[in-house]
Amino acid sequence: MAGKKTASRVSRRATASQPRTSVFVSPYPAGSLLSITQLSLDDISGILVAATELEAASPRERATLLEGRKVALLFYESSTRTRTSFELAAKSLGVVTTLVSDKSSSIEKGESLKDTGITLRALGAECIILRHVSSGAPWLLAQSTGLPVLNAGDGMHEHPSQALLDLRTMLARLRLAPVARSTAGISKATLRGITVLITGDILHSRVARSNALLLPRLGARVIFCGPPELLPEHAVSIGPGVTIERDFDKALAQADVVMMLRIQNERLAGLKLNLADYIDNYQLTVDRLTLYAPNAVVLHPGPINRGLEISSEAADGPQSMIAEQVRHGVAIRMALLVRALQGINIAGGTL
Ligand code: CP
Repeated sequence: MAGKKTASRVSRRATASQPRTSVFVSPYPAGSLLSITQLSLDDISGILVAATELEAASPRERATLLEGRKVALLFYESSTRTRTSFELAAKSLGVVTTLVSDKSSSIEKGESLKDTGITLRALGAECIILRHVSSGAPWLLAQSTGLPVLNAGDGMHEHPSQALLDLRTMLARLRLAPVARSTAGISKATLRGITVLITGDILHSRVARSNALLLPRLGARVIFCGPPELLPEHAVSIGPGVTIERDFDKALAQADVVMMLRIQNERLAGLKLNLADYIDNYQLTVDRLTLYAPNAVVLHPGPINRGLEISSEAADGPQSMIAEQVRHGVAIRMALLVRALQGINIAGGTL
């Protein structure tokens, strides 16, 4: 749809000083995204449609939507994709952003998460995007500041905006997307018949968790694959629709989407992982793709360890959608920022 229409519908109806209306039902501030599980399928449809409409709007129109609003990016862990795409998304909507990192702030002097959040709020932040090493930190921040918090990855727990951008990438590639207001939204049948294989360091992966909590709700079958050190049997207890297949080649033969996960060296302490064996058994290569999954879509949330979980040729090959994934992140994060700062009901058709 035309961008002009988008701008008129996503008006600056709500500002920081005005009461906001939202159907978001949560004990946490409206517009927060702490876990993928808090979004209904209608919410997700609304976010996907909003992402498409915001992407289609002209840069000039987008820049007025959240003009002058203030967002803090609070990062206690390194990030390239998430941080940059949130920042670019915010700036393209006219938001004033500030980055606070644990490396160059009073966090280094021991300031707590709560006090850092209260300080950012006192400086005018209306929303905080948080990446933290500890699971659950976004809940604490939302509770202690009363501000909408967007979880940009908390420890080994969740990465909900990544799951949304992964979903958008799959829907676009599989041509199943709700790309415009006129299309029916997603439903519990949208991914029926689709098998998503998630391979690698499931144990430490917040991306695997958020995707496994999301995709079966749309009808997808999720297969986890990896060695026991990185994929304990109890991983299937995450929910219905998730199974384990230890044999990577057998799993690949069933997959429509192959999501490879990074070996997280920083979280492997104490684990005895034989990397040579891992590469033999679980590395995604062009040979494996050609033999077992010639039509599958290849995803990776990044950063990639080339030559470890995926070969360079597979990462750069025609089946790879890894760069596309990153691009989808900007649109999804624009929609999440509008949702957080406008307090509007995207799912209800405000956009
Ligand atoms: N996918 C992801 O979270 O990447 P970054 O760590 O670079 O943000």
